[in-house]
Amino acid sequence: MKIGIDKIGFYAPHLYVDMNKLAIARDVEPAKFTIGIGQEEMAFAPMTQDTVTLAANAALNILDEADKQKIDFVIFGTETGIDSSKASAVYVHDLLGINPDARSIEMKQACYAATAAIQMAKGHIALNPESKVLVLASDIARYGLRTGGEATQGAGAVAMLISADPKILALEEKSAYHTSDVMDFWRPTYTDKAIVDGKLSNEQYIEFFAKVWEQYKVKTDASFSDFEAICFHLPYTKMGQKALKPLLPETDEVTQNRLLENNEASKTYNKRIGNIYTGSLYLSLLSLLETKEDLEEGARIGLFSYGSGAVGEFFSGILQPGFKGALQPTRHKEILDSRKEIDVAEYEERFNNTLPTDGSTLELEKEDDPSSIYLAGIKDHMRQYVNDNR
Ligand code: HMG
Repeated sequence: MKIGIDKIGFYAPHLYVDMNKLAIARDVEPAKFTIGIGQEEMAFAPMTQDTVTLAANAALNILDEADKQKIDFVIFGTETGIDSSKASAVYVHDLLGINPDARSIEMKQACYAATAAIQMAKGHIALNPESKVLVLASDIARYGLRTGGEATQGAGAVAMLISADPKILALEEKSAYHTSDVMDFWRPTYTDKAIVDGKLSNEQYIEFFAKVWEQYKVKTDASFSDFEAICFHLPYTKMGQKALKPLLPETDEVTQNRLLENNEASKTYNKRIGNIYTGSLYLSLLSLLETKEDLEEGARIGLFSYGSGAVGEFFSGILQPGFKGALQPTRHKEILDSRKEIDVAEYEERFNNTLPTDGSTLELEKEDDPSSIYLAGIKDHMRQYVNDNR
């Protein structure tokens, strides 16, 4: 039985910062951010958007009523969840009106959690072929103003429907994974900003890719030439190629050129959003599928997932007949193009203006946030969510 991605969509908040302007404000050569790091715009979430609403808005765009009845498992991957106890999946389950006879959980391992969620969904569908699983990957990446990581922040979510006989990508059985206790990036529960050793994190990412690729080759007998493209977790868009390039000499020139060309296509949306942690790899997959026009049915796509701390996995999937008809490039372009730019002063002010953590009541104005699902305030320590479509 084929199991894989039947539907996929993303959502990004309606505000962004221009990376050229951020560079000037930080007294940095703009080319460092736009070429050296590879980011053009950085999505910024207003107070009315948190990880729950971003995920719910992403899922709203892909699900129909029949899907909502079939979904019996909602898995939410995030490292910037809103509660240490209750799963964000439960809020999304309610906001979207999903079949009540369902499981809903949250998973965590830095940027890797959505990959773990997909693997769990695959196992669930193997046992229950009629069911559909909603996998959500949603995060707001914050390092802090004027920090080394600032240029690699972002906000957004990817929603995926995993099912038997998927319309887009059938996942192959074998995959290679690796865990090692590394302090390259982490976020203690008392802070909303990540702590990172940037240089170590880059090194570990590159090392993990080499390790899982080596393991994958042993398990499958595959080589780079078997792949049309390889999508990477993209904390910033230059990262994937930094891991890929050192290994390319093991393949022929035609394959090298193809993988590098497709790597460019796989950065398209990420360049305009930034790091969305758990969703970044899947945003990269969407970029590839929706912007590379000559991709063919039957092509094999590799996926490298990395979550600091650290866990890495390499796995693969085959593009399904008619996959293009199941994508939404026009809607996704519209989400990106209709956003509003905020200047650096407004970004800094908004960055410092966070939700209360002392239980006080807050009512939020939706203002120009066009999202159907948003946070309307906090009362009695409870976030007040609204779905305008209900
Ligand atoms: P930095 O020290 O600001 O930058 O940190 P740099 O000095 O390393 O320069 C970056 C690149 O810009 C270099 O290119 C420079 O040469 C180039 P590279 O050598 O890397 O190819 N450059 C220029 N290019 C053109 N014109 C110029 C120019 N000047 C310099 N004028 C760093 C960068 C990414 C480390 C920092 O932003 C950071 O700490 N970010 C957060 C951590 C991170 O993203 N790590 C990535 C791997 S870990 C991961 O992916 C997991 C993660 O997503 C978390 C999770 O799992 O949950 C982060």
